[in-house]
Amino acid sequence: MSELWDAEAVTFDQDPDHGLFDPGTRAAWLELLTSHLPPAPARIADLGSGTGTLSVLLADAGYAVDGVDFSSAMVDLARAKAADRTDVGFVVADAAEPPLEPAAYDAVLCRHVLWTLPEPQAVLRGWVALLKPGGRLLLVEGSWATGAGLTAARTMELVREAGRTAELHPLPDAVYWGREIEDERYLVVA
Ligand SMILES: C[S@@+](CC[C@H](N)C(=O)[O-])C[C@H]1O[C@@H](n2cnc3c(N)ncnc32)[C@H](O)[C@@H]1O
Repeated sequence: MSELWDAEAVTFDQDPDHGLFDPGTRAAWLELLTSHLPPAPARIADLGSGTGTLSVLLADAGYAVDGVDFSSAMVDLARAKAADRTDVGFVVADAAEPPLEPAAYDAVLCRHVLWTLPEPQAVLRGWVALLKPGGRLLLVEGSWATGAGLTAARTMELVREAGRTAELHPLPDAVYWGREIEDERYLVVA
């Protein structure tokens, strides 16, 4: 499975929400995430961190970020992107069982990965265990026009089953995606 993502790595940042090259898109994601994260400095786990765009965005905003991704090609690109930063690092590992310190994170962030994992309930319980008391889980997911993904209702249900109170923030605005969308995209904060 990681080989499939290795193959995606080279072109991954071409999507506006992946590379965040457009200043408006970049600013919108920064504003969205920081408005739901504890204030910096705080420690964040970015699970399924891909090419590290969000990790580096948050490191530049003053957070300490640990990224986990099982694709070594993605992690190579993430490490290159983070090369001149000190407070962000990446490990090649399974995000379903991240090799991170329990109860050590102010927030666990995961964008567009939960939907790919075979046992999301068990995975979410593990992610919640990474949080310090009062820590937050931020899940950006979607139920895409392709038929892939998780509905917001299902993600909310999974989060509640993991023992957390969930808050839904729909993300219909084109500014996040670089184009108008008609499918369901959202952030769940727990
Ligand atoms: C759609 S990309 C999202 C990347 C990043 N979160 C973002 O939003 O830019 C999915 C990422 O999750 C990673 N991934 C998928 N399943 C994983 C798993 N079980 N463990 C670790 N990484 C995984 C892939 O390698 C890929 O980098």
